[in-house]
Amino acid sequence: MAKAEIGLIGLGVMGAGLALNIAEKGYPVAVYNRTSARTGAFFENAGDLRGNIVPCTSLKELAAQIRPPRPIILMVQAGKAVDEQIRGLREFLSEGDIVIDGGNANFRDTMRRFDDLEGSGITFIGMGVSGGAFGARHGPSIMVGGCREAYARVEPILTAIAARYEGEPCAAWLGEGGAGHFVKTVHNGIEYADMQMIAEVYGVLRDGFGMAAGEIGAIFGCWNAGRLNSYLVEITAEVLATADPGTGRPLVDMILDRAGQKGTGRWAVIEAQMMGVPATAIEAAVAARSLSAEKAMRARAAAAYGGRAAPSADKPDAAFLEDLELGLFAGKVAAYAQGFAVMEEASCEFRWDLPMATIARIWRAGCIIRSQFLDRLARAYDDDPDAEHLLLTRDFVAMMGESHASLRRVVARAALAGLPVPALSAALGYFDLFRQARGTANLIQGQRDYFGAHGFERVDAEGLHHGPWNAAEEG
Ligand code: 6PG
Repeated sequence: MAKAEIGLIGLGVMGAGLALNIAEKGYPVAVYNRTSARTGAFFENAGDLRGNIVPCTSLKELAAQIRPPRPIILMVQAGKAVDEQIRGLREFLSEGDIVIDGGNANFRDTMRRFDDLEGSGITFIGMGVSGGAFGARHGPSIMVGGCREAYARVEPILTAIAARYEGEPCAAWLGEGGAGHFVKTVHNGIEYADMQMIAEVYGVLRDGFGMAAGEIGAIFGCWNAGRLNSYLVEITAEVLATADPGTGRPLVDMILDRAGQKGTGRWAVIEAQMMGVPATAIEAAVAARSLSAEKAMRARAAAAYGGRAAPSADKPDAAFLEDLELGLFAGKVAAYAQGFAVMEEASCEFRWDLPMATIARIWRAGCIIRSQFLDRLARAYDDDPDAEHLLLTRDFVAMMGESHASLRRVVARAALAGLPVPALSAALGYFDLFRQARGTANLIQGQRDYFGAHGFERVDAEGLHHGPWNAAEEG
């Protein structure tokens, strides 16, 4: 007799956390890991939750333990392992069973997997899960893509294990096919931009004013009580306040300045570029991580070009600290607007009809970019569901209106001091282009016509026109 409501394969940190979360919410879960020693250890350590956990040593046993139609969550490494796991599972599955990929998959792989399973009777769900290890265990944000009926089978479980914002579960079906994994990719792109802009402000305070990690942490701690209130700002304050147990120095000072990246931020930028949607703050963040990895080359460049000016002898005054807070906020507003513009375009291109306000709502808790700001963002869409762009909604105009001058002063001051603020300045540049009624593309068009006879439109007449520059050649 089937004992479980759902299955889960892959008991790494995220998989184990999700399985315990499911069991805790009262749903019996059958679990399997390639190495059965891990399954055994997981079960042993599950304490009171053991009653809701069915450890399995084979895929056949796993399938037999789940009530049909069987939903099975895969929490294995994104990429080849997912394909291998699906292949291995297929012979034990039957019509209507639902394979759910809960990893950080590239949504193009997810779409291919839908095609691969077409006609097999097995359904697929691509599920973005955000919130790290703690989130998986105690309440992540869950972004689902795939067949809606299949979602209905697992909805009670997913909404039970998801984080809650004022009682509302942070889990939703967002669209067909790769919609869930696409939204998770954009989430991660925004996450990169948010983290990078925070790190840039840290850099201004550390290198521009010679402030110690603890002092900077205290500033972020204060900001977390205001408009910047968010999980990322909160953990920034904590990371900066933490001492290295070995040396007693601020731990952050002992960490090598070389950031890792697994690819999701980069995918967000690639997809944005493929659709022709500017996502400059996200792009700058991805590029900054890539350049951070070139530690030795940066050291050589520092020697070749000389260091920056010495930090200012004075601490930042209250006015500049306020500029940093507001400037960071303005950068954030622009970066989120870019991310949502990418999703708007993808929604049309892939016919997903993504529910923008719902996406903002399920990001308000559980995920890495969770913040109060996302509640505001959701309300901006509620007020103007057909908004052409977030930066044209009433609330965003107000938010940028009160903060872009600060961003300008921060970027200008940092640039003059030689302090890198690539994501903040990308956000500012984007904003300035965005609100420029008459831009400079007229010159680009002139240049294109000059060297390639591409033609241009005129301000005073219909049709495609050419300049006189190639007349001699034509004659
Ligand atoms: C989340 C995170 C999570 C993970 C990424 C980060 O939403 O919970 O985004 O998915 O931390 O792997 O990716 P990088 O390793 O590229 O920073």
